[in-house]
Amino acid sequence: MFSKRIRNVQPSGTVMLSNKVKRLMDQGLDILSFTLGEPDFSTPPHIIEAAKEALDRGMTHYTSSLGMTELREAIARTEKQMNSMDCATENVIVLPTKMAIYMAIQTFINPGDQVIYQNPGWVSYGPMITLAKGTPVPVKMRYDSGWIWDPQDIRDHITEKTRAIILNTPSNPTGSLISRDTQKEIVEIATEHDLTIIADEVYENLVYEEEHSSIGSLPDAFERTVTVSGFSKSYAMTGWRIGWMVASKETIKMVNKLQQHSLTCLPPFVQMGALAALENGSSCIDDMKEEFRKRRDMLIPLLNEIDGVSCEMPKGAFYAFFKMDTGFKSMDMAEMLLYKAHVALTPGSAFGSAGDGFMRMSYAASRENLREGAKRIAEFIAVLRK
Ligand SMILES: Cc1ncc(COP(=O)(O)O)c(C=O)c1O
Repeated sequence: MFSKRIRNVQPSGTVMLSNKVKRLMDQGLDILSFTLGEPDFSTPPHIIEAAKEALDRGMTHYTSSLGMTELREAIARTEKQMNSMDCATENVIVLPTKMAIYMAIQTFINPGDQVIYQNPGWVSYGPMITLAKGTPVPVKMRYDSGWIWDPQDIRDHITEKTRAIILNTPSNPTGSLISRDTQKEIVEIATEHDLTIIADEVYENLVYEEEHSSIGSLPDAFERTVTVSGFSKSYAMTGWRIGWMVASKETIKMVNKLQQHSLTCLPPFVQMGALAALENGSSCIDDMKEEFRKRRDMLIPLLNEIDGVSCEMPKGAFYAFFKMDTGFKSMDMAEMLLYKAHVALTPGSAFGSAGDGFMRMSYAASRENLREGAKRIAEFIAVLRK
């Protein structure tokens, strides 16, 4: 009855886990959940005010499918100033970040085409490639070298069917960055094999000591790169469902066809909130980032103190991705931690085979809960190791 396409896709492991956690919490259990992929802060008030004003002014109708011009101009300016991208208004379309990745894949992938991406990597790349009848090709990152993505490993997976490379920096779940040198090599590989690069930069504003760098700003990279980013993680706006894509004008025209036949456009009051976010400077981002940094600096040493646990210092995003030498698979460990220690973590295997043996702990949670969470994990492992 259902299409093969939809039957071939598994439900999101992370969403299923959150649902389970919620059920247990509803039963009154004192569960500490660190599975959230969203900031625990409220959307800054000036953004909410701008959206309310837009509603009061009657901005409740369709806009251009590309997005409102003022917002596209502000995005183009931001990409130019922050990421040195050679970007004009015509290079921008406004859409939710997740849809931007979905549509980029739909735009470039024919049945049987192979798409390379990081392993461990974000849970939706594989299913999105499958939905386009492409073949997911997760390529392992190297934990022992600090989660680097070695260009030679990428080269080793190129075939005549390879069509695109997705790179996510800072990365979910590892918090690692893809260095400028690696980016240069990825551009070389893409040029040699005429590949499209899809750069997922949704965590671009959450880079702690180093600088974020956009692959699309490298010489000769812009025309073959689709850069996606958005408001969710930087401005605590996950529920607003707004982000953007920057790409060549030809690509934007193609993606606009998909937008016209699916979403149509994003709500105008949501776009006005997003415009206020970009126009009001970065101080609200800086405040949230500083708090994430403090939590990271507190949490990672606590995790590393636990016998059998080791965690690289994440350079960006808001996840600790730590190794647990317990002999159990991540999924079993997640279940045991949930039911016995009342701590909800995301099993590393949800992010690909290279994530097995690891757990993801979001530090988008209060310092008090993070401290208590680390304590419960330590106590649980101590009992397990007896
Ligand atoms: C790596 C990565 N890319 C894209 C997205 C999608 O972002 P949004 O929820 O803003 O569509 C997420 C969200 O969790 C993510 O972690």
